[in-house]
Amino acid sequence: MSSAKIIDGKEAAARLKLSVATAVSQLKQKHGIVPGLATVLVGDDPASQVYVKSKQKAAIDAGMHSYQRDLPMETSEADLLTMIAELNADPAVNGILVQLPVPQQIDSFKIITAISSLKDVDGLNPKSVGCLVAGGGDALVSCTPLGCLMLLKDALGDLTGKRALIMGRSNLVGKPMAHLLLQENCTVTVAHSRTVDLPGLCRTADVVIAAMGQAEMVRGDWIKPGATVIDVGIIRVPAGKGKTRLVGDVNYHEAVKVAGSITPVPGGVGPMTIACLMLNTLRACCTQKDITDVSLPLNL
Ligand code: GUN
Repeated sequence: MSSAKIIDGKEAAARLKLSVATAVSQLKQKHGIVPGLATVLVGDDPASQVYVKSKQKAAIDAGMHSYQRDLPMETSEADLLTMIAELNADPAVNGILVQLPVPQQIDSFKIITAISSLKDVDGLNPKSVGCLVAGGGDALVSCTPLGCLMLLKDALGDLTGKRALIMGRSNLVGKPMAHLLLQENCTVTVAHSRTVDLPGLCRTADVVIAAMGQAEMVRGDWIKPGATVIDVGIIRVPAGKGKTRLVGDVNYHEAVKVAGSITPVPGGVGPMTIACLMLNTLRACCTQKDITDVSLPLNL
């Protein structure tokens, strides 16, 4: 029985982080500038705490400054907007990331919109999204879809003409992913919870991006033989005897027998998301300081 090539996101992320760290040290040597990333966490959701800590650690490992702001669950929208205005105005802060989701008294769209587009390392600000859709400028692109695209290009090279199916229409992944793949000349379909005959549609796809947050929903017999499968899901499920394990949106053990290449969970898309956040922070810093003589590891 055939078995897919495993797309090693950990290894690709380590390579990207090393290139970013090298560029950061060039920036320091040539210009005396150290990029700074501010992470804002509102509340005490344990999973968000873990994600934010890993982003802060990655920034420090890359040689950047990490500024962390932890706010209580009951923080008002006005107070968070005031903090964002301060971070926007702070020249030591080149990137701002407000971890999502935010508590329900806060309108996340207002918060994302308030972040300066120059410092929008999440690529979620309407101005950043507009540039991506219009295919102009050098706006920052949302980290998870950017990481998925890098993994896809590593695995397949030119993506021209591929039929790509994106499952999930979130602002964080599905929508920006669709535009990135369109730019790569793919024929893109975005499926969602109301899509009719998702398994049948999936069987026509050369590239599958699973990003709907449903544990192991994509079965092996949904996959076209030889297709490339990128699993964005990361869900903790019971594993018996009081233990838990992480799974993706794809039933890996079934899909690995049919796909041509596939990302594992964990160790696939997750590490690339953080590496791309470092890349975006470096890019944001260079744009803000008008630096053009530092080589950016971005060959898209
Ligand atoms: N929560 C889950 N993923 C993300 C992300 O990529 N950015 C932010 N800001 N919050 C998230």
